[in-house]
Amino acid sequence: MKILPDIALTYDDVLLVPQYSTVKSRKKLSTKTKLTENLSLQIPVVSANMDTVTESEMAITMARAGGIGIIHRFMSIEEQVRQVLRVKKSESFVVKNPLTLTGMHTVADVNRVVKETYTGGIVILDENERVIGIVTTRDLLFEKNDKLLLKDVMTQNVITARADTSLEEAEKILHKERIEKLPLVDADGKLVGLITSKDILKLEKYPLASKDSLGRLAVGAAIGVKSSELTRVERLLDIGVDALVVDIAHGDSKLEIDIVKEMRKNFPEAQIVGGNVATAEGTQRLIDAGVDAVKVGVGPGSICITRIVAGAGVPQFTAVKNCAEVARSQGIPIIADGGIRTSGDIVKALGAGASTVMLGSILAGTDESPGTFVTRKGHRYKSSRGMASLQANLARKSREGESNITKEEIEEYVSEGVDALVPYRGTTREVLAQLVGGLQSGMSYTNAHSLDELYEKATFVRMTPVGLRESHPHDVSLG
Ligand code: XMP
Repeated sequence: MKILPDIALTYDDVLLVPQYSTVKSRKKLSTKTKLTENLSLQIPVVSANMDTVTESEMAITMARAGGIGIIHRFMSIEEQVRQVLRVKKSESFVVKNPLTLTGMHTVADVNRVVKETYTGGIVILDENERVIGIVTTRDLLFEKNDKLLLKDVMTQNVITARADTSLEEAEKILHKERIEKLPLVDADGKLVGLITSKDILKLEKYPLASKDSLGRLAVGAAIGVKSSELTRVERLLDIGVDALVVDIAHGDSKLEIDIVKEMRKNFPEAQIVGGNVATAEGTQRLIDAGVDAVKVGVGPGSICITRIVAGAGVPQFTAVKNCAEVARSQGIPIIADGGIRTSGDIVKALGAGASTVMLGSILAGTDESPGTFVTRKGHRYKSSRGMASLQANLARKSREGESNITKEEIEEYVSEGVDALVPYRGTTREVLAQLVGGLQSGMSYTNAHSLDELYEKATFVRMTPVGLRESHPHDVSLG
């Protein structure tokens, strides 16, 4: 038996010491960071891979805002692939498989296709798949004769562009030619894609959006540690998932090291996030196995009872600091996962060396999380539950078709998470605006113009419970 000499701290134990600041406008401070070695984000926020937090709707919102969502793994491979594809298809400046018809189709065919697909433009091809025309819903707005052939109503002499046209080039052509749709063609004039001004405008609406090299929104997905999960990994990589998060409570384990090594060997390009760990040694073991980021947090989460049930864990501020000291010098980003309740906690986590924070319950209360509202005593709530809670485990079993769960199984299940309600918080966009604004404010108190500078300059003081009481509103009645 040994007892480590240093006392371990968490966010409420420390404060950043304010420093002389040259920051003029906190809004202009860069919050750019990395999720993994090769994946940049404009805001350091990741939504947790929990079934009450991240499915496609949350992931789309997170990526548009400049962060990223990790789709949870408590669903079939097919369903997880569908969720990731929904994110991938939600935004791209190139439509890879545009709708097409031939000149011998009719106005009625266009009307039918438009109704089925909500698409506003159809490219007309000849028998060799070369572009010969384009028809838009606007062209046919007042067309009463639905038997007309498209060759007689289509716009001919279509302006096209090369397959590798950049976003900037496309914008110039659309503007100069006063057109809304630009088919992309290969050297033989065959259609390979379509750029629309509507899709470009959508991109401009979210200037911070996290995107892959094809302009699609970035998204991560969680996987388990069984070797059968390699099939899941392969399918997710095939459809362009940007990061794979190995999801296991005790990541400093042979189970995790083995799957990470397998993944690294079979999929050298994959961005792998390992975790969860809470020590420098555990961080190093995952880095040696080949991860591209390390997720830190054993037991700090709002719905976790690991520390109570297992008596194991490390208070989160110290865990993040110790893991970051090892990882940063090797270029590996740290994700501080769990226990974040305020923007102040985010500043402290990043000051301690994390590159991003993962949020569970804060985001579980938003419109974009899965699940429905519950009203209690006139207040609205949504649910948040530990993924190791009994309820989550039962839901998992019933999803997997195990309907006859015995009383004994229930009695013997050792739960490490609770089932909870969280207050409704509005939209994810509103919550993120408050969190990022608070982070930038914290950066200005530290005279940090970037998150790297925040880490370099951060100086913490420890405080007593009395200091903590002073930090909260006190001696007033809150309205
Ligand atoms: P917050 O505090 O943001 O934490 O709600 C989210 C993180 O909590 C972890 N998590 C669990 N930890 N038992 C645990 O000990 C559980 O059942 C459980 N479910 C989620 C997870 O790391 C998540 O990101």
